[in-house]
Amino acid sequence: MKLLIVDCCISQRGKDSRTRQLLRAFQEAFCRTHPEAEVETVSPQTLLALRPFDPAALDERDALASVQAWDAPVFALARQFRAADAVAVAAPFWDLSFPAALRTYIEYISANGLTYHYEADGCHGDCRAQRLVYLTSGGDVEREDSLGVLYWRQLCAMFGIERFDYVFAGGLDLDPAGAPVLLESACALARTLGEEN
Ligand SMILES: Cc1cc2nc3c(=O)[nH]c(=O)nc-3n(C[C@H](O)[C@H](O)[C@H](O)COP(=O)(O)O)c2cc1C
Repeated sequence: MKLLIVDCCISQRGKDSRTRQLLRAFQEAFCRTHPEAEVETVSPQTLLALRPFDPAALDERDALASVQAWDAPVFALARQFRAADAVAVAAPFWDLSFPAALRTYIEYISANGLTYHYEADGCHGDCRAQRLVYLTSGGDVEREDSLGVLYWRQLCAMFGIERFDYVFAGGLDLDPAGAPVLLESACALARTLGEEN
């Protein structure tokens, strides 16, 4: 059983990143409950080093996909994502969604023919994971239809991942005195999700 962690906790708070506290809570509970789990992590440094696709890079990727050269380096992140049994994505709530580096990662894992494909009736997912958890923390309170949450919910449908859960630790910048309590209750939810199968 492989747990893939996509750690996009890019934070000026360093190790005190509130988003990473959510991630730690989930990961510790998951690994305690699934001792057989192997963890693979995509680090913030890896995410920040990704280049968005330009036309030449898209042409090159299309050419590789047309001969099913799925072992090419450009598909490495998509292969890793496709093979995971469970996925945890952690990213702060930035500008109503998440950091650009995570959007670029989504370009890399969205490989038509590898992580999903089209048939006459539309898109079908080809990923192995049964579940994906999205962990985020925001300064303002959570709004209905939060874009990052909606985005990952729809990506799960596209990739064929049946179960989607999320934790939104909201309102953390509204009242500094209340933030630790809000964060702890979000961490408790992350722990509960980590304990589930
Ligand atoms: C670049 C940037 C953009 C942000 N945009 C938003 C936003 O649109 N809405 C919001 O509620 N909070 C926003 N925030 C506040 C963060 O979401 C909040 O402080 C969060 O807890 C940061 O997580 P961290 O401790 O892991 O860095 C933003 C913070 C930064 C640095």
